[in-house]
Amino acid sequence: MRFAKLALVVSLLLALVVPFATAQGGGEGLTIGFSQIGSESAWRTAFTDAVRAEAEARGINLLFSDAQQSQENQIAAIRAWLAQGDVDAIILAPVIATGWDDVLEEAQDAGVPVVIVDRNVDSDPSLYVTRVSSDFVHEGRLAAAWLVQATSGNCNVVELYGTVGSAAAEDRHAGFAEVLGLFSGMEIIRSETGDFVRSNGKQVMESFLSSEDPANICAVFAHNDDMAIGAIEAIKEAGLVPAVDILVVSVDAIPDIFDSMDAGETNATVELSPFMGGPAFDAVVAHLNGEELPKQISVGGGLYTSRAAYDADR
Ligand code: AHR
Repeated sequence: MRFAKLALVVSLLLALVVPFATAQGGGEGLTIGFSQIGSESAWRTAFTDAVRAEAEARGINLLFSDAQQSQENQIAAIRAWLAQGDVDAIILAPVIATGWDDVLEEAQDAGVPVVIVDRNVDSDPSLYVTRVSSDFVHEGRLAAAWLVQATSGNCNVVELYGTVGSAAAEDRHAGFAEVLGLFSGMEIIRSETGDFVRSNGKQVMESFLSSEDPANICAVFAHNDDMAIGAIEAIKEAGLVPAVDILVVSVDAIPDIFDSMDAGETNATVELSPFMGGPAFDAVVAHLNGEELPKQISVGGGLYTSRAAYDADR
């Protein structure tokens, strides 16, 4: 049994390189509404910048709406585009998974195709064209597999949860917990949301460090790099050495996390590609040309423990 578990961990680690969806081009002259969650993290900002750049390169007129973390704002923006009748398609990066049925039905009734990007919606897939995203469950599994092998299967973990109800947080937790569940020495001893925000990550880590015996915390799993960086500040202010006294593993692979690795303060990150705009625009173009698309278009990423390894994969 122990051999089977270790084999699973190794196979997960070996499955690090997942092919990326590559963009093809096209869409000139289209007007596309992009409802973005906000700018809670460096990854989100990089994602927005990449979508804007891709639209510009293709000659797409992008109507950008920043929802500032509010689903109501996202729904209002979509309804405004539908009422004005000025969009050929909508790209939706949903903040949480539930509550989209009505507005997606309204878009369908108006004949405006919707492509979901990044986080998932709970709605019937017939209400949208496709979803361009990574596999968040796999990201959680990768983080856990790295931690299992780094600690020989013995570790008390504190978890910095992303936005509750978001696919990114729920699925990363599920994948992480699934792998940990295979090892009796691995346990999540505390878990609290930091909403994917750096300052919240710091605050929550401070509360973990004051309410737990720090010597009892072996690692922090942060659902994104920003919260990990906040946690690292808290660990240092508590007089501990991040990545040594408390291991740090997170998700996103933003530039700051590699600076942190260079400084020896972060152990590992799982890459989330911000380049989903190209495949999303391709999907819009293909759909408008009458092509059938799969309901899922995947972008992948590996787990990295150094900048050199990450750079070598570019
Ligand atoms: O939905 C993806 C997550 O959202 C990213 O990992 C995080 O940085 C962002 O806030």
